[in-house]
Amino acid sequence: MKISVVLGTRPEIIKMSPVIRECERLGLDYSILHTGQHYSYNMDKVFFEQLELPEAKYNLEVGSGSHAEQTGKMLIGIEKVLVKEKPDVVLVEGDTNTVLAGALVAVKLGIKVGHVEAGLRSYDRRMPEEINRILTDHCSDFLFAPTEKSKQILLNEGIPEDKIFVTGNTIVDAVIQNLEISKAKRNVLSDIGLNGGEYFVATVHRQENVDDGSSFQGIVEGLERVRREFDVQLIYPIHPRARKRLKSFNLEPNGVRLVEPLDYLSFLQLESNAELVLTDSGGVQEEACILGVPCVTLRDNTERPETLEVGANVLAGTNPDKIADCAKLMLGKVNSWENPFGDGKAGERIIEILRSKFD
Ligand code: UD1
Ligand code: UDP
Repeated sequence: MKISVVLGTRPEIIKMSPVIRECERLGLDYSILHTGQHYSYNMDKVFFEQLELPEAKYNLEVGSGSHAEQTGKMLIGIEKVLVKEKPDVVLVEGDTNTVLAGALVAVKLGIKVGHVEAGLRSYDRRMPEEINRILTDHCSDFLFAPTEKSKQILLNEGIPEDKIFVTGNTIVDAVIQNLEISKAKRNVLSDIGLNGGEYFVATVHRQENVDDGSSFQGIVEGLERVRREFDVQLIYPIHPRARKRLKSFNLEPNGVRLVEPLDYLSFLQLESNAELVLTDSGGVQEEACILGVPCVTLRDNTERPETLEVGANVLAGTNPDKIADCAKLMLGKVNSWENPFGDGKAGERIIEILRSKFD
């Protein structure tokens, strides 16, 4: 069996790392095709170094652009590589433009597609990610659903049951594999100048939030209020898209500490010691839930409803009053919920399933 792993952004590198590690451990015939969607050192290379992943065999260096421009360049570049590599299966993870491009090229070349993290739905078609997820699921041959709920969503959309495998989410593997290493290797609290204890972490980067002036302003005001009302430090490792938008909308979050995007070990440490997480990130909602840290989601919907059901997360949207109310609600929570995303063996399971199909 020959595998091509197609990836391109920060969360894909992190969530594909357990699958790549498993390919390495078993000495499988695989290679990594990086689209170059993310390219800044702290959004890309730092994760390869820190997670000890082999360098990508191909990097298309597609970079940033409009959706059509970015996706179009990816389609052309990925096709050339796959025609040459002739893998049996292409693996993609998540819901980015890279994922859609990888899946679309592969299926049209008659190559099998495996979608890691299949069956997530926000039911919000304004999100580019929702379109990417739906299309990718519907052209995949192996749908690796993280939970029974995501499997049910796929069945309801008419996807045959024999294509769906409930594996857990590889983010659990990544957290388990890296949390202890992060404790041993990082001292992020003193690096950032936090005196332990009372601080909250925010991450905000979604297109529908930060590219819309009034939504981003609502979030910024909400973060300012939360910081003031709870008298805590609020750290916001800021994604480059959001940094750019803050500037163009002339927003200056008062009292919120903006820091550059962090490496994974540092971010895990910051997140796991926080009292509260406020985020619009998919991966951060999951990690907070796994780490037992209460989460306020700065969106009106989530494709991770499992986090709401276990009581780890609440939807606040972008209204400052609602954000402050939700922060209060979540701080009162006893964090004894069960992690709904699996046992940390999703990467192993995914490879085992593929081997049973091809070897
Ligand atoms: C993308 C994904 C999103 C995911 C996020 C993870 C799509 C449609 N969106 O959003 O689902 O949650 O990645 O972080 O695929 N930039 C840099 N350096 C980089 C990358 C981006 O400076 O390495 C800046 C550029 O100004 C760029 C902007 O960020 O225009 C947005 O980058 P892009 O990859 O288009 O989308 P993300 O917001 O990162
Ligand atoms: N993350 C990180 N450094 C940061 C912020 C986030 O390493 O400064 C990690 C985080 O631990 C999670 C992933 O990035 O695993 C989430 O990626 P992102 O929020 O960019 O995308 P999403 O999950 O929303 O697609």
